[in-house]
Amino acid sequence: MLDLTPRREDLEPIELASRAEISALQLERLKRTLRRAYERVPHYRRAFEAAGVHPDDLASLADIARFPFTCKEDLRAGYPFGLFAVPREEIVRLHASSGTTGRPTVVGYTRGDIEVWAGLVARSIRASGGRPGMKLHNAYGYGLFTGGLGLHYGAERLGLTTIPVSGGMTERQVQLIVDFEPDIITVTPSYMLALLDEFRHQGRDPSATSLKVGIFGAEPWTDAMRAEIEAAFDMHAIDIYGLSEVMGPGVANECVESKDGLTIWEDHFYPEIVEPQSGSVLPDGARGELVLTTLTKEGMPIIRYRTRDLTRLLPGTARNMRRMERITGRSDDMMIVRGVNVFPSQIEEQIFKVKGLAPHYQVVLTREERLDQLEVLVEALPLLAEAAERRISAVELGNRIKSVIGVTARITVTDPGGVERSQGKARRVVDKRPRA
Ligand code: DLL
Repeated sequence: MLDLTPRREDLEPIELASRAEISALQLERLKRTLRRAYERVPHYRRAFEAAGVHPDDLASLADIARFPFTCKEDLRAGYPFGLFAVPREEIVRLHASSGTTGRPTVVGYTRGDIEVWAGLVARSIRASGGRPGMKLHNAYGYGLFTGGLGLHYGAERLGLTTIPVSGGMTERQVQLIVDFEPDIITVTPSYMLALLDEFRHQGRDPSATSLKVGIFGAEPWTDAMRAEIEAAFDMHAIDIYGLSEVMGPGVANECVESKDGLTIWEDHFYPEIVEPQSGSVLPDGARGELVLTTLTKEGMPIIRYRTRDLTRLLPGTARNMRRMERITGRSDDMMIVRGVNVFPSQIEEQIFKVKGLAPHYQVVLTREERLDQLEVLVEALPLLAEAAERRISAVELGNRIKSVIGVTARITVTDPGGVERSQGKARRVVDKRPRA
């Protein structure tokens, strides 16, 4: 793989700043954000007053712990525009979450917010190994989802030839990659695997493509998947993180030279890790739920947003800003199966270890005679055609899941293509248990 480490002179000054400079900037911006939220958004004024705090109470960064959290429910309650901090006329763009349960959450951006976002995505692409003049194939979905337009504007800002393909039409995606010869692809990791299958299906060698970097996010993935994609395409596989409530993609991004977790762009976001049940703040290094406060958002500042994403904060390496470990799952994706906590990513890791299985899988939860049953549906690779061979792989996967994770799983190995494919975020868990 090519060495794509950005040159120091191409980084922004804040990427080279010291911890002291970063913290000073955060404190100044945090004070301004709290005041703005309190003065302009009735929800925050009420919430601060109920908690007995005032923006003037923040003297140090640690004082943020005195302020109340914001949850998805607060956004839903304010649906659609209740949390905006500017008159609606100053909002130049709306995005919304898909809202699988209940109302979607709506987010609004001022012209300034769009500028900052494009700048942060440009920074993320540069950290991933992107350079002006490269071509970028963007297969994140365009629309209310922040992935498509978020990556698009960042790529243009960095000076890339941006190819707005969006999701779907897998055959054509492959053709466009062959014809346009992009250097970078941006897509969910699960859809990248669908593209990999399509390359092989068409009898094309994925390692012969022009791709040098893939920037993957919007859903959890594992280092095992990184290894698979990097080997197949002979390219760097880089992790990008973000969420619409806080901005969209580009809140944090891995650096190509270290690939050791995601650098949080701390000049625009203040991260904390809290214990998911009690909400108490945990020290750096401890695993828990990521909580984010925006430091520069104008249209919809957000204070201590409970992301539900589980990770930990680590000191900076390639940059002085702190890193977060790859997200292992969301607290609401955690399955409790007969008392054992299980994340889909743990099952994914085991699938990669069994020869003959493809990394397309779904976990199905059912309840039989009041006991939870966990079934793993996983595809066989085309080479694993014999029923007897499939049974051996199924037994091996079951044994691994039992010994490493500690739960009994029923394994069904399907034909290639037998597991539902996404063209964006994969649906890893299908919970068919009756609702309590
Ligand atoms: O998924 C924004 C995005 C688009 C990020 C493109 C990266 C690339 P939402 O649809 O609001 O926004 O979903 C946010 O997706 O809270 C995480 O649970 C999950 N997520 C996002 N990036 C990652 C990642 C976009 N790199 C939710 N690893 C977040 C694991 C991720 N999970």
